[in-house]
Amino acid sequence: MSDVSGSDFDTSDHDDITATQSWQALAAHQPHVFAMHLREVFAVDPGRGSELIIDVGDLHIDYSKHRVLRETLDLLTALAREVGLEDRRDDMFAGAHINTSEDRAVLHTALRLPADATLHVDGQNVVADVHEVLHAMGAFTDKLRSGEWKGHTGKAITDVVNVGIGGSDLGPVMVYQALRHYVDANIRCHFVSNVDPADMVATLAGLDAETTLFIIASKTFTTLETLTNASAARRWVLEQLGAGDDAVAKHFVAVSTNATEVAKFGIDTANMFGFWDWVGGRYSVDSAIGLSVMAAIGKERFGEFLSGFHIVDEHFRTAPLEQNAPVILGLIGLWYNNFWDAGSRAVLPYSNDMARFAAYLQQLTMESNGKSVTAHGHHVTADTGEVYWGEPGTNGQHAFYQLLHQGTRMIPADFIGFAEPTDDLSTADGTGSMHDLLMSNFFAQTKVLAFGKTADEIAAEGVAPNVVAHKVMPGNRPSTSILAPTLTPSVIGQLVALYEHQVFVEGSIWGINPFDQWGVELGKTQAKELLGVIVDAKSPAPQDDSSTDELVRWYRTHRGR
Ligand code: F6P
Repeated sequence: MSDVSGSDFDTSDHDDITATQSWQALAAHQPHVFAMHLREVFAVDPGRGSELIIDVGDLHIDYSKHRVLRETLDLLTALAREVGLEDRRDDMFAGAHINTSEDRAVLHTALRLPADATLHVDGQNVVADVHEVLHAMGAFTDKLRSGEWKGHTGKAITDVVNVGIGGSDLGPVMVYQALRHYVDANIRCHFVSNVDPADMVATLAGLDAETTLFIIASKTFTTLETLTNASAARRWVLEQLGAGDDAVAKHFVAVSTNATEVAKFGIDTANMFGFWDWVGGRYSVDSAIGLSVMAAIGKERFGEFLSGFHIVDEHFRTAPLEQNAPVILGLIGLWYNNFWDAGSRAVLPYSNDMARFAAYLQQLTMESNGKSVTAHGHHVTADTGEVYWGEPGTNGQHAFYQLLHQGTRMIPADFIGFAEPTDDLSTADGTGSMHDLLMSNFFAQTKVLAFGKTADEIAAEGVAPNVVAHKVMPGNRPSTSILAPTLTPSVIGQLVALYEHQVFVEGSIWGINPFDQWGVELGKTQAKELLGVIVDAKSPAPQDDSSTDELVRWYRTHRGR
């Protein structure tokens, strides 16, 4: 595994996943698969194209173009069983405190349980709590959407600005964009996250304070970026309206777990939509954090979005490991990460409306599984945390696919596409559909990645001998194909849940805690300290290292300090 550790870790061999029988069997098996080209894999197992498929909800998932044999899949599921994945999964669904470093339950799955379900956690029926908040969100968004909710000057709201960052931004903005076709009221949503003032300034430039409502979304309500932006928004509203603090109630609502801080900020807690410490920020788009989405698409569609998650939750909870989509895809991700040294996964939606999906997954997967110690505090013995990245096809094809096809690294890719388009236009000759053109690219790319083109095939086309090597398409590059009938609220919920549970599968096998994020804290405290240094010309405050010291001095000089 890569060594990025300092020397402060306990390197005891507890939790050594590599010492398990199944891990060792996989390591012994890998060279056999490595030696086979996917062309050969398909030749000896022609049924795999129609058999290595899982249908769950609306998702049709083809994992046949992976560098796995049926034996590999048996070994991988044996590994899952050996580490007790099923028990750990059951613990999560039951509300056990599996987020050990924060002593919390992990219950995003409870956010999408139907109203008639019950789940008692720490003595409380959390399903009743969830539906009480959903009801309040529905009542509020009904008023917004109908125009009954008026701003301070009596005008209806036309623009909603979600102010939040990380999980309080990435989910809502991704889903809002993906469900563009379901935005059915006279409400436009905007999203401000960055503490770079350009974000807020550019957003406010197109808005009228009289008809704008801000949702301040922060689980903790202590996040520097969000509170700074929220203050800027409040100043803007009051200045624009020439109003006093009483205008705040009509233009600001909050989504948070922290009523005390919400009240301190000046938002009436009657206008606060709550959630709970058992919802991680990156798992919260289906909580009240999705309020902006509900404002845009309405409570019924939001209900469909939640039902989509629930379909995949039920599948993950009950399907045998061998037919369990998040389990199989998570295990295949781990197979490449740990036995092939393929550290990253490309996510390639053939859907322009899903442009922010990869960015959303980056937080979900990398903040969850970017850990170097096990849940017991021992150093991990295998690499964790796949690096997720991607862009919609076909744009990516004209940017980085060259490396996917002919580079020296193997980058497994998830292709996501739809049968029915949300929009369509005719092709240049007026006879075809642009959506078909898009999807023909999807199928061509997965085919070429897997099977490539040999030197003989290229030479047979009369290509000059000195160019043949450059044109060889090695193939043997793995991909998953995920298809769905069309992009609906339910489908986007299904897709998110599919990835949430893959994260869980991988994190469980690595033995880490995917639900904390201590690694983001030090940067926050140091930024606070450094702010004092960079704004105060008199502060000598030399930094401990000569690089930061010089950078701070350069910055102060250029700011005239
Ligand atoms: O700093 C990381 C983080 O804590 C994320 O986990 C979270 O989604 C984000 O900040 C925003 O946090 P909050 O919703 O509490 O403002």
